[in-house]
Amino acid sequence: MNIRARTLNFIKQVRIKLRPSPKMLLEKIYFGNLGLQPKCNYWGFNRGGPIDRYYIENFLENNAAFIKGHALEVNDDRYSSRLGGTRIEKIDILDINPLNSKATIIADLSKACHLPAGTYDCIILTQTLQYIYDLKSTIRHLYRILKPGGILLITVPGISQFIHKNDAESWCWRFTEHSLRLLLEEQFTPQNIVTESKGNVKVAAAFLYGIGVGELKKADYDFKDLDYQMVVAARAVKSEEKLKGFIHHLGSLIFQITGQAVMELGGTIGTFGEYCYPGL
Ligand SMILES: C[S@@+](CC[C@H](N)C(=O)[O-])C[C@H]1O[C@@H](n2cnc3c(N)ncnc32)[C@H](O)[C@@H]1O
Repeated sequence: MNIRARTLNFIKQVRIKLRPSPKMLLEKIYFGNLGLQPKCNYWGFNRGGPIDRYYIENFLENNAAFIKGHALEVNDDRYSSRLGGTRIEKIDILDINPLNSKATIIADLSKACHLPAGTYDCIILTQTLQYIYDLKSTIRHLYRILKPGGILLITVPGISQFIHKNDAESWCWRFTEHSLRLLLEEQFTPQNIVTESKGNVKVAAAFLYGIGVGELKKADYDFKDLDYQMVVAARAVKSEEKLKGFIHHLGSLIFQITGQAVMELGGTIGTFGEYCYPGL
């Protein structure tokens, strides 16, 4: 090796030595007091309430005009009463839990053939679908019990804490905007569905840590990152088509005559479209 080659080789070696390692290039992360355990393992209830409610309530407030007439809500009537005002004529509260004293209807939404078709102007279904294994059947029933022109307002978790001791045997699903849309399209006309998702990495991490709703700023909530769909929501309108309406009433009538008897015989009652009938 001549002197020139040696010098160039020396410079190359020095350059390699001085080059920052990938570790040096990474920004240092300070986890502060965010450790292995959440700050609250019950959705931030002891810190001012769950962060996802910010988005859920915003969604319902933005759609308050649709909360009207005969409404159905699950578990309690907190949103139909608060946001429906004088537009509301009647509220039914549905729950699968027979111990819920507020419930006026005890039903499993995935096996709800006994609920009459074409009943509701508005159904508010917040944070419930994740507990129901048979999603397709549930959407069929929700569609069936809506009046033509009736509205389903729905929110579901995308990223969420999970409380194993309470939910291990009941919580089935988490959703994306895509999966909620596909599910609703099983029944609702695609043009009648509007979906949205909310969240970003900071809000999602705070929610997982059980930090309270008031501990983040509006700017934190308002930044939208589709990679972190923490709360997914949709508004779906049942088609007003006359033929569908007729079939729906006919289906309902047939069920009322035959369905109850079949149920009492212990048959499996399934639903298809607007109908409920045995065997599916
Ligand atoms: C977390 S609460 C959500 C409802 C409440 N309105 C809210 O916004 O928080 C879930 C409710 O869904 C009910 N639920 C679970 N599975 C159900 C099913 N298959 N059919 C009807 N209700 C069900 C639970 O009993 C509970 O009342």
